[in-house]
Amino acid sequence: MKFLDGLSEDIKKNLLEQLRVLWTHASTAIEGNTLSLGETAFVLSEGLTIRGKPLKDHRDIEGHARAVDLVFALVKKDEITVEDVFELHRLVIDEQILDVYKPVGAWKKENNAVNIAVGDQQRMLEFSNFWEIPQLMERWLHLLNAEMQPHKEPEDLLKSYARLHLSFVAIHPFWDGNGRIARLLSNLPCLKAGYPPIIIENERRYDYLTAIGEYQLAHGTPSLNTELIHEGDLVNRFSSFCEECWQQSLSLVEQAHALQQSRDYTISQSRDPSL
Ligand SMILES: Nc1ncnc2c1ncn2[C@@H]1O[C@H](COP(=O)(O)OP(=O)(O)OP(=O)(O)O)[C@@H](O)[C@H]1O
Ligand SMILES: [Mg+2]
Repeated sequence: MKFLDGLSEDIKKNLLEQLRVLWTHASTAIEGNTLSLGETAFVLSEGLTIRGKPLKDHRDIEGHARAVDLVFALVKKDEITVEDVFELHRLVIDEQILDVYKPVGAWKKENNAVNIAVGDQQRMLEFSNFWEIPQLMERWLHLLNAEMQPHKEPEDLLKSYARLHLSFVAIHPFWDGNGRIARLLSNLPCLKAGYPPIIIENERRYDYLTAIGEYQLAHGTPSLNTELIHEGDLVNRFSSFCEECWQQSLSLVEQAHALQQSRDYTISQSRDPSL
């Protein structure tokens, strides 16, 4: 990944660890995880638990961090497949669930719906029909693979992220874990083009869910007879929101490169024979 170019091995490793912690903390906190950023970093680096915090929160963090590792590995693949998506689901839903209607590592087996309250409207909206998921997700994977190109500018990457994210959550192919997986997979074009991931800030959960809700209210749910994504103002608005969130990971990358520069400078000075 190009954003790591020019960094020494230790700085590279530390930067990847920071991104893994930030991504895991922000995404699981959106889902309701109660561990702070510091606690998340501690659990991941020490393998120890935080007293009084739910076991589920620890497991979700471990699973998500492993899912981040898998996403970093997927960047090198030529084509992302259904099996890759199922593997991510198995990592994110790190539980033994004995319920045939809650499959782990497979598409949903029954329909699901969401309540949307935007402004003064409240509506219940059904996601894509479960029997259409295999075909819809084949189309979605086609879109993902088409968006993954080594040379893309930030503006295009934000659009790719928004398109992939909005269409994934509008389909809602799994019974659970859709948000976390959307926030992971939609980043593949950014990583492929050499940029760090867009990490949706958990403090901005309300803005995030409102933007998704507005899109869903306006365009409804994808089906085999409709477009996967409806371009326009709402996609643009979501991509501007994502741009603001992107600053956090971009600034971690900037800090790592600044540290590298000052290290290189100090080393070159210490080798200067005139000193
Ligand atoms: N109105 C909506 N239409 C489509 N998708 C929505 C809507 N509201 C929320 N979502 C998406 O669905 C996600 C929740 O779905 P789900 O519970 O399957 O995912 P999760 O990963 O378990 O939870 P979370 O996304 O909250 O971390 C939200 O994070 C968001 O991405
Ligand atoms: Mg959930």
